[in-house]
Amino acid sequence: MNLIKTKSYWILDEHESYIDITSGGFAFPFGYANEELIDSVSQEMRTVSKCMSNIGQTTDSVEKAEQFLKDNNWSGIIWTVTGTGAVEAALQYTTLLNPNKKILSYTPGWHGTSIMTKQLSATSSNFSGPVRTIKTNPWRTDLERSIEEKRLIERTEIEIKSHNVGILVINPAPWYYGLNIWSNQFWLSLKEICEDKVTIIVDDVASCWGKTGEYFSHTKLIPFKPDVVCIGKAITGGYAPLGATLFSKNIWERAEGRIFYGHTFRPYMGGIGAFNKSIEIINREKYFDSVENIETNLRNIGYRLKSLDLINTFRVYGQCASFDVIRDNHKIQNFKKRYYGASNSSGFNSLRVCPMFIADNEYFDILETTLIDIMS
Ligand SMILES: Cc1ncc(COP(=O)(O)O)c(C=O)c1O
Repeated sequence: MNLIKTKSYWILDEHESYIDITSGGFAFPFGYANEELIDSVSQEMRTVSKCMSNIGQTTDSVEKAEQFLKDNNWSGIIWTVTGTGAVEAALQYTTLLNPNKKILSYTPGWHGTSIMTKQLSATSSNFSGPVRTIKTNPWRTDLERSIEEKRLIERTEIEIKSHNVGILVINPAPWYYGLNIWSNQFWLSLKEICEDKVTIIVDDVASCWGKTGEYFSHTKLIPFKPDVVCIGKAITGGYAPLGATLFSKNIWERAEGRIFYGHTFRPYMGGIGAFNKSIEIINREKYFDSVENIETNLRNIGYRLKSLDLINTFRVYGQCASFDVIRDNHKIQNFKKRYYGASNSSGFNSLRVCPMFIADNEYFDILETTLIDIMS
């Protein structure tokens, strides 16, 4: 598809206009061609086009961005360029504090494109680093979930006791499994077996900035504060690359200053401009209030698809939904080729969607009609 224009939730090529069903890969909740966000990037670049905050230089806007994160109870902040970088920074600091310990993750997953984050995700990395993975079976029902979670807790306990695991990396809302959200009980059991021995890194890159109706998904989904949280994608509304690794006090007190971690762009100022602007827009437009409406619309679409016998099951959380289709056909195959969110790695043939904050009735009508069309 050769794009010629984008605007709000619309994407245009030479022939047709389409709605974007995945918020540009979970990164563009404010929609396309948002003048305010575009201006925020260039304005920031005009003010100070380069910032070396890691070696003592900073700007008011970096301080403003860091203050927002500190107000949300994060003691240490490392700016990165991508979500991958945020996970890498989390690993570098936590391995420093847990020398010779192994890193555990649940797969299939997605944590980025570096050699280490690919290994964590079990996506074709040839690297044999200090990573251990546990394969997760997606579930459809509460019963299947409790059986799977119990198995995962048992396996995790063995990994910690017998395989020297000291760091755990986990997605709070794993879209890669098909949006199988962990139960509260799972998190509590995980915390209990990790105690103070295992550092928990939550990869919130895809699920932060309103996907759950709050800035960080852990405040909605996890009954304790994680040691480290990685954010990215939507934090700039998708208008500039920026990621961040956020450290809780107990980790940061031990890690700060012990290694140098920084990029040439530390941070990239266009990203900082868009970051601050994204928070301003969310508050002004009360965008997090719209998430409940998005969730209701997605659920209604799910019930409709089910009543038409087009899906087996579906899962919805906040801005995201995963529909398990019954019949695969060439239209679905084509759709998957075109749309990132439609890829299937959950074990079910599921299509994933993530409407933007700005999705309105027209959007949901088109989404429902499109899904009915391709699934029929
Ligand atoms: C959960 C998760 N973590 C990390 C990343 C990597 O982010 P980036 O593509 O910005 O490097 C992604 C990207 O899709 C992701 O979904």
